[in-house]
Amino acid sequence: MSNTDITGTAKVVFMPSGRRGDFPLGTTVLEASRALGVDLDTVCGGRAVCGRCQIVPSHGEFAKLQIVSEHNHLSESGPTEEKYKRIKGLKDGRRLGCQSQILGDMVIDVPEESQIHRQVVRKSADEIRDLEIDPVVTLHYVELPKPSMEDQRADLERIVAQLAQDWGLDGLAWDIQCLARLSPALRAGEAYGGEFKATVAVRGGREAIAVWPGFKDRVYGIAVDVGTTTVAGHLCALDTGEVLASSGMMNPQIRFGEDLMSRISYLQQNEGSAPELTSAVQAALADLVTVLAGEAGIDPQEVVELTIVGNPTMHHLVLGIDPTQLGMEPFPLVLDQGSSIRVRDLGLPVNPGGYAWFLPCIAGHVGADTAGVILSQAPHLTGEMTLVIDVGTNAEIVLGHKDRLIACSSPTGPAFEGAQITCGQRAAPGAIERVRIDRETLKPRFKVIGSDLWSDEPGFAEAIEGAGVTGICGSGIIEAVAELHLAGIVDASGRMQAKGLEIADHPNFRAKGRNFEYVLHTDDERAIYVAPGDVRAIQLAKSACYSGTRLLMDRMGTAQVDRIYLAGAFGSYIDVAYAMAIGLIPDCDLAQVASAGNAAGTGARIALLSAKARAEIDRVCRQVEKVETAIAEDFQEYFVAAMSLPHASDPFPQLEAWLEAEGLARR
Ligand code: FES
Repeated sequence: MSNTDITGTAKVVFMPSGRRGDFPLGTTVLEASRALGVDLDTVCGGRAVCGRCQIVPSHGEFAKLQIVSEHNHLSESGPTEEKYKRIKGLKDGRRLGCQSQILGDMVIDVPEESQIHRQVVRKSADEIRDLEIDPVVTLHYVELPKPSMEDQRADLERIVAQLAQDWGLDGLAWDIQCLARLSPALRAGEAYGGEFKATVAVRGGREAIAVWPGFKDRVYGIAVDVGTTTVAGHLCALDTGEVLASSGMMNPQIRFGEDLMSRISYLQQNEGSAPELTSAVQAALADLVTVLAGEAGIDPQEVVELTIVGNPTMHHLVLGIDPTQLGMEPFPLVLDQGSSIRVRDLGLPVNPGGYAWFLPCIAGHVGADTAGVILSQAPHLTGEMTLVIDVGTNAEIVLGHKDRLIACSSPTGPAFEGAQITCGQRAAPGAIERVRIDRETLKPRFKVIGSDLWSDEPGFAEAIEGAGVTGICGSGIIEAVAELHLAGIVDASGRMQAKGLEIADHPNFRAKGRNFEYVLHTDDERAIYVAPGDVRAIQLAKSACYSGTRLLMDRMGTAQVDRIYLAGAFGSYIDVAYAMAIGLIPDCDLAQVASAGNAAGTGARIALLSAKARAEIDRVCRQVEKVETAIAEDFQEYFVAAMSLPHASDPFPQLEAWLEAEGLARR
């Protein structure tokens, strides 16, 4: 029985999409896929150059589809395809869709890597969420006739006509820098064989932004997180999402002030100084781009797209917008929507036709970094009451689910980063990061960054030789305060007290005036201890965070959260149980509390790879309700109640059960 009908057409079904249609015999698989809107990739437009159109013909009887798909229903591999196979190789069973003609009914599989909208699958908890790539920039290879006395069309007219004919790209705008490179690219492309040959990068299907001689099948993007302290970026292949290089550097604006408020103060006191801060951060971005391209071994000209997240002040300063008004009521943003800005307007040494897309800001204190966190942790896609806290010198807090999201920012100060703590330091080798205090002997043991051993384990002294024990980092001070409280040395009000404790001549208790300090470690060079003021500093910081959360929970009308994510560098190191034990976060099933790593940066990467994700986060951010802690009447009340360890009135039953089960219960 013939599988072709008398009119000379054949049925074709593409899998996994299931799209099907009837096509005249001789139609190529690529043509059929285009006609059906099947997701089959191509950069060369069907010239057997790119190899992106690979398909797998399925053979056999497909009763459900009413198709008998036989070997001879696809044309044999011709000389062009054989040449490709010889030079670049083709896996067994694979064919080039652009070279395979349909000669009878067929079922055709499109493998994942041949799909334009391929999946990026999450590999670990702090990795990018499962995502379908939806490219913002696409590459289009064209071959076009050279000018002659008979055909004197301009280069632009010539290539525009070819892009329309081969790719259906009508009405493209042309960036002037791209246009300036067109003629040299076309003429250099001649070297690849008789005709003009070039590859054009098109953004959003609307604008030609870059052109290269000959065939080019890959361009790159960089996702950047501009933090107050550090600027970090990932360089990714835009077609696969693969990260080829990651790097970070200090934000040179530090010379204008350590933290955000001191930089805003600098701006307020030095009128007209915003351009200085803008130049500093743009120069750092330029350096970062160069470093990343070098690490990835690519030409910076191949970078055509960036995405940028940052708090509102950083966001505005990178753009060259004076953020001074963000420090004054009513804290209005100048720009809040997701925005495309030419990279050349930011002084970045990448392809000048490229763009940087700034994620949207939510409010004066809740910026594009929070938008990145939302995109990464996706509270707007779940039915669970989800709390996401990006902990830094400010805590940006988002609460809600698919029907409603609310957000605020609360000033935690630098205590969680080890600043304002007597023996505090940044997270670095030698810093105490884990602390346990024996409930009976009141003796401590601890771990330092750079060693897996506890301080009372054999080999610890050798393991830390050289680096020593140098101080306490943010996660260490949280555990120290929590353990001091659980051991009965710090009461619920945060006071260090010795009532009922046997501390006479205890080596870890040191009198200080009418009070005492708790010594974690001493050696020939120094003593590392916790002073009453340190407990106070942590109480203030955690109270700011908790009261912001509580404010949002009350506005939401919920007494319980189902899931908590702690984001930010600090959030990645903190033990979530201890964060709960001091009352930094509300009571919750600890199995549902997780670190989200650098969620803002992950969000920037998602936006880099997906136009759909950009539209999604722009829409979600417009719907987020903002709560301004600075003017919320009840905030002070919340703050006072949250100063207690873990809280003056809120219960923590799930935490208590966990502490009991772990043998860490309160003394
Ligand atoms: Fe490029 Fe087939 S479309 S090789």
